[in-house]
Amino acid sequence: LSASAAETVAVDFQPIGRRGHVKKDMTILDAARQLGVGLSSVCGGNGTCGTCKVRVQAGNVSPVTTVELELLSDEQDELRLGCQTELRGDATIHIPPESLTAPQRTQVEGRHVPIAPDPAVVAFELRLSPPTLVDLRSDAARLRAALPFPAASVDHRALESASLQLREHNWTVCTAVRDREIIAILPERTPLLGVAVDLGTTKVAGYLIDLTSGTTLAVRGAMNPQIAFGEDVMARIAMAMGEGDGRTRLHQSILVGLNSLIADLCAQIAANSQVVTDVVVVGNTAMHHLFLGLPVGQLGTAPYVPAESAAIDVKARDIGLEVAPGAYVHLLPNIAGFVGADHVAALLASRLDDASDHALLLDIGTNTEISLASRGRIVSCSCASGPAFEGAHIKFGMRAAPGAIERVQIHNQVVMYQTIDNLPPVGICGSGILDTVAEMKRVGILDVYGKMHSIPGMQRMPRKNEFVIAPAEETGISSDIVLRREDVNEIQLAKGAIAAGWNVLLTEAGLREAEIDRVLVAGAFGTYLDLRNAIRIGMLPHLPLSSIQQMGNAAGMGATMALVSKQERARAAEISRRVEYVELTTHPSFPDLFMAAMLL
Ligand code: FES
Repeated sequence: LSASAAETVAVDFQPIGRRGHVKKDMTILDAARQLGVGLSSVCGGNGTCGTCKVRVQAGNVSPVTTVELELLSDEQDELRLGCQTELRGDATIHIPPESLTAPQRTQVEGRHVPIAPDPAVVAFELRLSPPTLVDLRSDAARLRAALPFPAASVDHRALESASLQLREHNWTVCTAVRDREIIAILPERTPLLGVAVDLGTTKVAGYLIDLTSGTTLAVRGAMNPQIAFGEDVMARIAMAMGEGDGRTRLHQSILVGLNSLIADLCAQIAANSQVVTDVVVVGNTAMHHLFLGLPVGQLGTAPYVPAESAAIDVKARDIGLEVAPGAYVHLLPNIAGFVGADHVAALLASRLDDASDHALLLDIGTNTEISLASRGRIVSCSCASGPAFEGAHIKFGMRAAPGAIERVQIHNQVVMYQTIDNLPPVGICGSGILDTVAEMKRVGILDVYGKMHSIPGMQRMPRKNEFVIAPAEETGISSDIVLRREDVNEIQLAKGAIAAGWNVLLTEAGLREAEIDRVLVAGAFGTYLDLRNAIRIGMLPHLPLSSIQQMGNAAGMGATMALVSKQERARAAEISRRVEYVELTTHPSFPDLFMAAMLL
């Protein structure tokens, strides 16, 4: 080894898979910066913010420092601070999702639950004898007879290519069979693929899976193209109900989006989308209905009843999905007008139906679905938490995009913030807004009612009811980025709705907050919010951090589980039957709990 090579170490950042060589004794934070890994660092590496948490999976690093002992005292497992830990040798470093800057987090990742594959579509490799003048059976009869069970049928669209395929492949083919129906005839040993989709109001996540082994082959996130017609569910319902062909346009738009998502997934492994023989779709009830082309008017008016709540199996071609012509789409069941199949999928992935303790699951978004499992019951509700966490209705609010302030801390009267991609700030996204409110409350600038007070030593309120997060000279928009009293009120409404939701469920189950054993937080926003701050402002129950788990895209994980296992589909159906839905708007305790929960 040359002298310079001897002084470098190999570092492997997981799960994003960035590898490279850096100087020995460099801190993990500097190594991340050098290799272009977006590791959060609000204090810029000074050891005061605690946002650069990592896990050393393997390798040799410097001993734990006193700064780390202090900042990580209440953490659940062996975390280190990237800015305090030096690389002494080759190492593999795991970065938890909350320590990544926004663009490197995707909405597709989720906690994996191992299950044994038991797919609805299975492959049968068939070697047929060709027809002769004494064996004049039809091609379809020949296929049926070769299967190890009686009374099979052949999908008529699969039949269109059967005769050609059989002759082209010398009478040796792979048949994809679902419930005694041959749905595709493919070249021998073709791996059967399936696609699971989590169809969100804002974003769509797709997973390409090998149906036989259950292995994930490709994942991809995309925006829901329906966004062009309105940001939230109510806007889309209004469009579908309005004059003209709104419903058809919304249906078409999501189909175009899904077909291109499926094509992209297949392109990642150089496969043809015609070998996709099974699809599972989950989404909130409105997205589920718009995907199927069902009317949504009844979802927009009380008592908000879905057109169908049972699971649905429908030929993919009838919807317009470009996969194997005989393939089906399975839609998991819905629970209610505002608790859809995506929440059923999240319940499936979280195994809440098996819980022996008191466990709360929150899927936080514009609409937040909450379930509480206790003593064998599952009670669920949905609350309109509003789009404030997406940056909407906030003066300088924006989505998590380059230049958005995503983390904020106030330390010794100094405001520290971090932006996505370390660009000059241009706005503030959900996690940054929540951090700002929590920090302002902690240092006494905000009182419990959300009123602003100036505190000695901080020159951040040149105007009444406005707190300057980033002064004009630091921003990329030549004006101060501020949080106004009205913005704080939006956050109070959003977090108040969520807290009132889980409080109503506690009332229903006869439990107190302190009796909750664990909380599971799902959804893209839930993945990167600062849990400590979410507890501080009362959005999440006051529990030790070690009792709260971030699940990532639990709905997506549930969809993949239902794709590879019939048992999981049955389990999802059982969950939807078991859930006791609680309507918040008419619940007698809701108004009081909501008023109380709006306090900071
Ligand atoms: Fe490590 Fe702030 S960057 S503690």
